[in-house]
Amino acid sequence: MNIDPEASFEGHRPVMLDETMEWLNIESERWYIDANLGGGGHAREILNRGGKVLAIDRDQRAVTEFRDAAETLYPGRFIAILGNNADLGEIAGKEGITPSGILFDLGWSSIQGEDPERGLSFSEEGPLDMRLDIREDDRAEDFLERFSEEEFVDLFSEVDEPLARPIARALVQARRQGRLPRTTLKLASFVSGVYYRKGFRRSRRHPATRVFMALRIRVNKEYENLARALAGSLDLLKDRGGRLLVLTFHSGEDRIVKRTFREWTQSGTAEYLFRKSLQPDREEIRRNPRARSARLRGVRFGRE
Ligand SMILES: C[S@@+](CC[C@H](N)C(=O)[O-])C[C@H]1O[C@@H](n2cnc3c(N)ncnc32)[C@H](O)[C@@H]1O
Repeated sequence: MNIDPEASFEGHRPVMLDETMEWLNIESERWYIDANLGGGGHAREILNRGGKVLAIDRDQRAVTEFRDAAETLYPGRFIAILGNNADLGEIAGKEGITPSGILFDLGWSSIQGEDPERGLSFSEEGPLDMRLDIREDDRAEDFLERFSEEEFVDLFSEVDEPLARPIARALVQARRQGRLPRTTLKLASFVSGVYYRKGFRRSRRHPATRVFMALRIRVNKEYENLARALAGSLDLLKDRGGRLLVLTFHSGEDRIVKRTFREWTQSGTAEYLFRKSLQPDREEIRRNPRARSARLRGVRFGRE
């Protein structure tokens, strides 16, 4: 029995499902790495199309739920590993798998976003944690406790936060006075307060969007992991060939992928599958507003 991957998941709809499958070019009985298992939407579709899947996620819940759901439906056709996709080379080596394609779907899933305990959302009260992997040492709160004004400025500037300096200054001052915000809603209203004082009265997105994003990227070392994961993918695919697809959700991570793909294509190591990034169509964005910032990039190695 096949399950419709869009219909079967409460919480997280796989983004650009048709496009990712088409460009991965799923062939039956070949192995594919889903480096961001999440709610399992992409992984299931690879399985439905006859491929085999090595799935990785750093969130225990994502891995356990996928194993439980997929074990009876796709026995012997998948392996789900709790781990960091930055280590995908070692993970694939240990499992003895040579992939024909690798898919990244970066960031966090709606399932994680809706769990107030993780503190990822500024619309629900929760602790300032933000770790996708609870074995990680530092929570968002730990950075708020110890960063200097300059470190805050750098952190927020990386995500193009226009009020990086005033927010940094306000945080350091609040800490000195013992009034550092300690929950998601308090941090969100703290940042809104800075915006208000600077004369911003209305904006399309919540003023705390970028601050939350910057903290989450830092807590989960997202840029370092992405750079390592791309290098690991290169090692896995460069000699035997295969396709690499990456879905990004903000300009910081997209820049890293774009630059890396440019280097590989200029040196003749890889070829673009498509030159410009692809975006979801209007209909998908209507059904799934979270998809609106998605960009898909893809390269291939070797001849097919
Ligand atoms: C956007 S979701 C993936 C959704 C999934 N493709 C689907 O269709 O349901 C991103 C997932 O990647 C995981 N993740 C983030 N960084 C990771 C990393 N460095 N290594 C492994 N998993 C990671 C998150 O825990 C989250 O479950």
